[in-house]
Amino acid sequence: MRHLLSPLDFTLEEVENMLRLAQDIIKKPDKYSHICDGKKLATLFYEPSTRTRLSFEAAMLNLGGKTLGFHSADSSSATKGESVADTIRVISCYADICAMRHPKEGAPLVASNYSSIPVINAGDGGHNHPTQTFTDLLTILELKGRLDNMTVGLCGDLKFGRTVHSLINAMKRYPNVKFVLISPEELKIPQYLRDELISENHNFKEVYSLDEVMGELDILYMTRVQKERFFNEEEYIRLKNSFILDLKKLSKAKEDMYILHPLPRVNEISVEVDNDPRAAYFKQVQNGVYVRMALILILLGLDKTIEY
Ligand code: CP
Repeated sequence: MRHLLSPLDFTLEEVENMLRLAQDIIKKPDKYSHICDGKKLATLFYEPSTRTRLSFEAAMLNLGGKTLGFHSADSSSATKGESVADTIRVISCYADICAMRHPKEGAPLVASNYSSIPVINAGDGGHNHPTQTFTDLLTILELKGRLDNMTVGLCGDLKFGRTVHSLINAMKRYPNVKFVLISPEELKIPQYLRDELISENHNFKEVYSLDEVMGELDILYMTRVQKERFFNEEEYIRLKNSFILDLKKLSKAKEDMYILHPLPRVNEISVEVDNDPRAAYFKQVQNGVYVRMALILILLGLDKTIEY
């Protein structure tokens, strides 16, 4: 049995296999519609979610399985003081696999230590969001035809944005990927991540202006300033509009630069950008279902029964 806690839990070869499986699912959805008949996915969401929870549920339903779960800590026995360790022991009696989102970094890791079913980290605090990253990788692969040899700009809240941390960790493994990290001083990537990029000799730079680097980018990954992680509301209000991508700013971008965003968006991408052919964030949402279908199959060991 294995879990998915970080994108680095999968080797490059395993990621490639998963993306290939997701692409096969896109092409032949009917082939997969009964593989999980009789299986159950539990969604344990201690924090709000639209995409991740519902795409996990859609993924399991598309595979013929069923879902159960809770969508907030308030509607679970966490409010009565039940620990994550006890909760996962209980859920292991009800389901075959589970996806957990939690505000505390490392909570899915704790769950995995007590679980007898695969645990998927569906976002833990400001730490990691591996299934969003696999969604991002599939989207980039579909749009650019490769995951190497490109310049990736990550813009906005690089401090608290768990999707940013996971995407950097996943993409630094591909050859000749350069990161351009665009944020205010207060929202730069955490020092541990900077230290890793430096010690592993990755190509990256940190800048304060989106305009000055727009023309260099092959991918622009916009992110929301994570209000829920701030201790000080005044600080959030001061920083929340640091970057707003509009058509004027986009005019400096390459014709084949694609814009991704894990969503939800607040106002960091103006709605006028949505109709630009380079806006890929709703395609990204759709890909989230296919990637999660592939991941469920792999973690349940059911991919071995399929040729793809
Ligand atoms: N991208 C993402 O994690 O969205 P949700 O918070 O809606 O799940």
